[in-house]
Amino acid sequence: MWLYRLSWALGGMFSRAKVERAYSVWMETSPMTELVNLCEKHGFLLVIDDAHGTFISGRGGGGVAQEFDCESDVDICIGTLSKAAGCTGGFIACSKRWKQLIMSRGRSFIFSTAVSIPMAAAAHAAAFVAEKEAWPRSAIQERVQDFKDLTGIPITSHIVSIIVGSEEKSLLASRHMLKSGFHVTAIRPPTVPPNSCRLRITLSAAHARKDVKKLAAALSRCIKFQDVDIESSELLAKL
Ligand SMILES: Cc1ncc(COP(=O)(O)O)c(C=O)c1O
Repeated sequence: MWLYRLSWALGGMFSRAKVERAYSVWMETSPMTELVNLCEKHGFLLVIDDAHGTFISGRGGGGVAQEFDCESDVDICIGTLSKAAGCTGGFIACSKRWKQLIMSRGRSFIFSTAVSIPMAAAAHAAAFVAEKEAWPRSAIQERVQDFKDLTGIPITSHIVSIIVGSEEKSLLASRHMLKSGFHVTAIRPPTVPPNSCRLRITLSAAHARKDVKKLAAALSRCIKFQDVDIESSELLAKL
């Protein structure tokens, strides 16, 4: 549906499409191939926020554009260094011309302190390791599969967002998870609409199958997996 609306908007007054590859809070991923086709059709700018894909997607960790083989179709790719890279700060990958414009006109770029040299060096090392070592990407996929097997919830990403309802319920569940040894945050308004608070779980390459087993066991004490509405585009749990 939103793709249809986007198509309509692109045909109208807007001149750019800015999408997140993975909307972690909504458990949605952007259909890259369709977006590229739309942008080609309407001649618009395609900007992606690949915070969850950087170093995770693509054969060399090059992100979603590499995964979908559409690197030359994406005009601007924004990424964070705070997730897979294990640093702080972020980057913009773009052509030289876009770079010149952003460096001279981008307010937050002009008025922010640059990434520190140790951080830039760490990010550079992370990019090198990510390209060379594919095992963390495979490990993440294995943990996603483990989670699916253990809970029966058909997740497609290593970021899992399960709706539990009120703020109170989400905080109770989050506290229970913390006591069980898992940092599973409660995402509440204003990030999400009232009464659609959710638990956000992040599976990583540092986790082993036994961790996911313990996670599923702890989760099962506050969520009935069989009651999670897997038909809806969002995972709705009854607490
Ligand atoms: C899609 C997306 N973009 C950007 C960010 C922000 O990253 P940072 O915390 O490094 O500013 C996040 C954080 O979760 C995110 O999910």
